[in-house]
Amino acid sequence: MNRILLLLTVLMTTVFGYAQDAKMNAFISSLMSKMTLDEKIGQLNLVTPGWGIPTGSVVSSDVEGKIKSGKVGGLFGVIGAEKVRQAQDLAVKQSRLKIPLLFGSDVIHGHKTTFPIPLGISCSWDTALIRQAAIMAANESTADGLNWAFSPMVDIARDPRWGRVAEGSGEDPFLGSQIASAMVKGYQGNDLADKRTLLACVKHFALYGAAEGGRDYNSVDMSRNRMYNEYLPPYKAAVDAGVATIMSSFNDVDGVPASGNKWLLTDLLRKDWKFNGMIVSDYTSVNEMSNHRMGDLQAVSALAIKAGLDMDMVGEGFLSTLKKSLQEKKISLVDIDRACKKVLESKYKLGLFDDPYRYIDENRSKTEILTPENRAMARKVATQSFVLLKNDKQTLPLSTSKRIALIGPLANDKNNMLGTWSVSGDPQLSIPVLQGMQSKVASSNLIAYAKGSNITDDTALAKRVNVFGLRADIDKRSPDAMLEEALAIAKSSDVVVAVVGEATEMTGEAASRADITLPAAEQKLLKALYATGKPVVVVIMSGRPMVLTGSIEGAASVLQVWHAGTEAGNAIADVLYGEVNPSGKLSMSFPYSVGQIPVYYSQKTTGRPQDLNNKFSSRYLDIPNEPLFPFGYGLSYTTFEYGDLKLSSGTMGKDGSIKVSIQLTNTGKYDGAEVVQLYIEDKVRSITPPAKELKAFQKVSLKAGESKIIEFTITNEMLKFWNASLQYVSEAGEFGVHIGGNSRDLKMASFELK
Ligand code: NOJ
Repeated sequence: MNRILLLLTVLMTTVFGYAQDAKMNAFISSLMSKMTLDEKIGQLNLVTPGWGIPTGSVVSSDVEGKIKSGKVGGLFGVIGAEKVRQAQDLAVKQSRLKIPLLFGSDVIHGHKTTFPIPLGISCSWDTALIRQAAIMAANESTADGLNWAFSPMVDIARDPRWGRVAEGSGEDPFLGSQIASAMVKGYQGNDLADKRTLLACVKHFALYGAAEGGRDYNSVDMSRNRMYNEYLPPYKAAVDAGVATIMSSFNDVDGVPASGNKWLLTDLLRKDWKFNGMIVSDYTSVNEMSNHRMGDLQAVSALAIKAGLDMDMVGEGFLSTLKKSLQEKKISLVDIDRACKKVLESKYKLGLFDDPYRYIDENRSKTEILTPENRAMARKVATQSFVLLKNDKQTLPLSTSKRIALIGPLANDKNNMLGTWSVSGDPQLSIPVLQGMQSKVASSNLIAYAKGSNITDDTALAKRVNVFGLRADIDKRSPDAMLEEALAIAKSSDVVVAVVGEATEMTGEAASRADITLPAAEQKLLKALYATGKPVVVVIMSGRPMVLTGSIEGAASVLQVWHAGTEAGNAIADVLYGEVNPSGKLSMSFPYSVGQIPVYYSQKTTGRPQDLNNKFSSRYLDIPNEPLFPFGYGLSYTTFEYGDLKLSSGTMGKDGSIKVSIQLTNTGKYDGAEVVQLYIEDKVRSITPPAKELKAFQKVSLKAGESKIIEFTITNEMLKFWNASLQYVSEAGEFGVHIGGNSRDLKMASFELK
């Protein structure tokens, strides 16, 4: 009976879906039959009037005139109900066909209420919370007139020199896919026409995170094997979650820039993955194909539209050349019609043809942004993103009766709390650490503050990171005077808390760095603080995994807090004082040395696996192969003990499954949460497999002393990979299953797939 009901529901939903599609198709064909060629090309034009943050060189002129003459399909960088209304008025009152505009923005980690940077959020390993955060970001940004978020960024990143690691979910395809899916569902909800949901845009398709040398915008070259097995899964997960739009990346893939790559945009994305949404270029990435040496603007614009790109961001190559290319028969009307249809469909799905002002509500702008509830949510997400890297002698949590010396260039700072790509956030509304900590203690005398050092003393570097406002300020006092002041308060304290790391714009777009150790000024400060003999808690703010070797050995505790968003200071104080027990786990390995990069947990074994007694094995002479802190790693104020693995069977057929269980006990004094991670090791494969791969995880809360049996089900699906002929298969043979609290310290058992 239940099956019949289920079948009926599926049938009805499908029929309803077809009816909806038919209605949309009829509406759009009728509209397109009225459109001139210029108006169709106009829909493909996404421009920014130059407000907001330009991340490239071209800014369109006479945007107002262009909107009125039907030469603009969407705007970005126009934020706030009033401004959006003005622009929408131009389109729906003054253009011939009254086609409404799309309004996009980089809603990367929240809107005005800013969450931690995405890399931080990913360390929560809490997909339900991540989805909630996306729902809240959608709510705030739609309240501000937006209907399109250029997020999530799902590029797998294994090179922390690349500044944009801050914007993604780290190194792992499985974790990355889970997060991609949660974010898309959060932004888009069940109904895109709801005024609180918007179009998500998964980016940057594809492989943008694999830029050579970690230098932004650099070339990418990758085997199909690695691409399919390790880099494509998160984009595919976003497509499967129903993402409405996709952004093509700046880099080339197999020698063809993504924005003009037909294999990527049409064969893979449209045909294999059945993506039926809209594809937008990145900022002038169509024009930039000329620099990639693919031809002049007309040639590259034709290449892009024929490859399957629908909308051209900022560069206006489509606007200025497609008509000519059509006349010269270099492209066909079918290409333009296809792209135009995709743009109009996006608008239709948002409900803009029913009500172009659906997302424009001045009242919502005033009442639904930066509310106490939203700030509370940002605070919660921030506490979940922190990763405790070290905690000798249980220095943390701090007791509220201790005298604290709070020291460091980021200890009383507002400018660097939000993190990179927080285009709508106001740094001045963020909470500095000093304020957060003061709110916890009975008397503010218990916390003495000194800056101690600049983030960097390098004036040239400071200038480069201060492009969007003051981030790395160089104090008027000399470094020695600052240090002296800091040491004086350190000496009369019980515990030193040192807040150091990177300025916001030392990461993010166009912020690659070759040296990712802590800046010299901060290292000097830390060494002097260690020399006082006081216990030093180091709080690290950064947008990337930094190389901490040599900087934290003297620390009693190390808490990695990323750039934690609007509520940074409160969240940090919550964790330092133990109101929240940290449970974050690294989504990206912390290298021991920059010379190891890329270093990631799933590296292949090679034909000569590391053997410290064998010179001729795959290893370095001067440093370990292992990262300083591995993927999945993170401590808690409590301790967790894992029992032995139990398998329901030692063999499994391809249509069967095995249950694997393990006892987890909270053996410490505090209640806490642990991310239990399951990795699969394929012991024999027709192509060389990663050493092991994350295939499942559960975040489990346990009271002090509590035990729980954690169970996972292993299915054939978890054993599949893309083989040499790019078929998705599993192969019979022996598999290892590893479970533990990080990718290094694991309990193991094995089974056979028949
Ligand atoms: C360039 C960035 O690569 C992309 O992520 C962003 O969405 C666009 N600029 C628009 O700001």
